[in-house]
Amino acid sequence: MRKPFIAANWKMHKNIAESVDFVNQIKDKLPDPAKVEVGIAPQAFALYSMVQAARNSGLKIIAQNAAAEYNGPFTGEISLRGLHDLGTNYAMLGHIERRRLFGENNTAVHKKVKAALQMGVTPIICTDETMVQKEVNGEIHYVFQQLMSVLHGVSLDQIRNVVISYEPSWAVGVGQHANVALAEEGCRTIRRTIADNYTYEIADKIRILYGGSVNPDNIKDLMAKPDIDGVLIGRASLDVDNFLKMVNYL
Ligand code: G3H
Repeated sequence: MRKPFIAANWKMHKNIAESVDFVNQIKDKLPDPAKVEVGIAPQAFALYSMVQAARNSGLKIIAQNAAAEYNGPFTGEISLRGLHDLGTNYAMLGHIERRRLFGENNTAVHKKVKAALQMGVTPIICTDETMVQKEVNGEIHYVFQQLMSVLHGVSLDQIRNVVISYEPSWAVGVGQHANVALAEEGCRTIRRTIADNYTYEIADKIRILYGGSVNPDNIKDLMAKPDIDGVLIGRASLDVDNFLKMVNYL
């Protein structure tokens, strides 16, 4: 049984005081951590305060990005070594906004994934629709090369520890309702890629999240789908009441 994972991506919202206040408002109202895992990705400067505020609550703290390098002359980057010291549980790598706005490609994301695994910070590897299918002469074909290029050299033991998110560009930040059937199809295709390139047993264990216009009205339908193990929520996660409704969707 895969444990559901509800993760908030706050993007470039909330300062330190607002982030900590949010945690203080929700921490006694979270679901049983044995049944549902809940995480928040605040801005980098709030990570330390969030880790402190979340102590003993079961809430996981997620970095929105990380550098592939251990240390060195990389001005402005965030090292996985520092994130690990800080007690960050997960790092989101290759989010669609990093790809779209900051030119991250699969080669860069691949290096980050390897570095995160070596450092003991669990990667949440972000993928989009171009990594699961492509259209040729009006027909949709299943593709696996791009996802596998990100996972190149990730061993059988390591792959068990990654989380993959599927965020199609047509659903992220656009204010449309998520298309539940297409969300499930994307996640199922990713699971099939893992089964084909690793093993069925691993594909059955790995958690795949869906992201894109998730809100309190559609979370139940999304989470009812067999290949959607969790969600990555942007806008709707910024409000305490909405967030609590979504993490307590069961
Ligand atoms: O990481 C979250 C995704 O970018 C989804 O954002 O829920 O605002 O569409 P959204």
